[in-house]
Amino acid sequence: MASGSDSGRGMWSNRWVFVLAAAGSAVGLGNIWKFPYIAGENGGGAFVLIYLVCVGIVGIPIMICEVMLGRTARSSPIHAMRKLADKAGVSRHWAFIGWMGVVAGFLILSYYAVIAGWALNYVLLTAQGTFTAISAEGAALAYNDFLASPIQLMFWHALFMVLTIWIVGRGVSRGLESAIRWFMPLLFVLLVVLLGYSFTSAGFEQGLAFMFDTRFEAVSGETWLVALGQAFFTLSLGMGAMMAYGSYLPENISIGKTVVIIALLDTFVAVAAGVVIFPIVFANGLEAGQGPGLMFITIPLAFGHLPMGALFGTIFFMLVSFAAITSAISLTEPALSYLVEEYNAKRKRVAISLGVMCWILGLGTVFSFNIWSTGYIVGQMTVFDFVDYLSQNIMLPLGGMLIAVFAVWVLPQTAVGEQLGIKSGFLSVLWKLLGGVVAPVCVLVIFVYTVLPLFSNLA
Ligand code: TRP
Repeated sequence: MASGSDSGRGMWSNRWVFVLAAAGSAVGLGNIWKFPYIAGENGGGAFVLIYLVCVGIVGIPIMICEVMLGRTARSSPIHAMRKLADKAGVSRHWAFIGWMGVVAGFLILSYYAVIAGWALNYVLLTAQGTFTAISAEGAALAYNDFLASPIQLMFWHALFMVLTIWIVGRGVSRGLESAIRWFMPLLFVLLVVLLGYSFTSAGFEQGLAFMFDTRFEAVSGETWLVALGQAFFTLSLGMGAMMAYGSYLPENISIGKTVVIIALLDTFVAVAAGVVIFPIVFANGLEAGQGPGLMFITIPLAFGHLPMGALFGTIFFMLVSFAAITSAISLTEPALSYLVEEYNAKRKRVAISLGVMCWILGLGTVFSFNIWSTGYIVGQMTVFDFVDYLSQNIMLPLGGMLIAVFAVWVLPQTAVGEQLGIKSGFLSVLWKLLGGVVAPVCVLVIFVYTVLPLFSNLA
């Protein structure tokens, strides 16, 4: 992919390689696992609509900002922010954005690898025919049994981490690029097959109604915060991943158009996952708001009742695992490229150290599903809930807001205009309005209404 075996200045060979890499980062557990279960917990339709609005008016402008900052500076996020702050003649404290990103990436990866480990285990379970003709209760039981075992979770968590670190340590190689070329389209095909299944399931109308009928009674400030956090999470925004990827983007490629393509691909996968999962939920009398287990119960159930389900189910979970790896890579990239640049360290060694630390931190999430399941650290939150909430709902939006403010109001706009190919006055106004006002103000308003009261409740 970008740069061979170091994080030095390589370049994507063309626009589609960048689209694949960025889409590889964006499409992951956030789309297939997280989006449906969060939508389920937040009442469905109205949440989905708010989420789409967040992607459109906050996510896309901020992704443009991030990619643009990366391409302008051509270095890892922390260094990029330092360079750009110098260029703009402002304090180097703006590098705080980069630092917070490194921490956020680390926190996210710590639990991301745990859940991705579940997907790896489900490759094996499905291949063994565990789910053939299984009942809804049986599928739920298999899931609960698995989660009750910290040893099993630790094993799969470790396996996923080793795979990720192995790839990252070797340098994000050509091998991965060609793999993405095959796997991403295959994932789309299997999603379409599953769409066909859910279309014929008895719960289809009810599932669709759940996803698209907007019942605003259920919406609160918290709904907005969760939808906003999800928009950041699913587009890999707010922590410098897209900045790092943007730093390898050739000059002549239109950032705006490319970002819109990535956002559309990502949104398609998330919505398709929801349309697949909810009909199965209703046809089997399952609970829409059951939380993180949603995908791991409904999908095996669906494949369990399809011809050659064990085969296709196995492929499906392989694809999910692969989508998770291409996302996990981007979670390590800001920290890794910084350490390599700053200390001239060996990429492999840095990768292994990061992986070990992250695995240890991930134990908090592993135990949240069994021995610490009632060990709340804040309010009713387990370690997993807390790490997830802090990174996704607080750090990513905060990072994204600062990135947008910096890109529009701090950085000299002549350079920005050139980067983005803004030629008309209209585009320039649109850029200032969306990137400089709408996106940051939305984040700020949602923060003031939901996060601040939360802290005063805790105090
Ligand atoms: N977007 C990925 C997903 O949906 C997760 C991810 C990868 C991510 N890189 C990120 C989330 C950077 C936030 C920031 O699964």
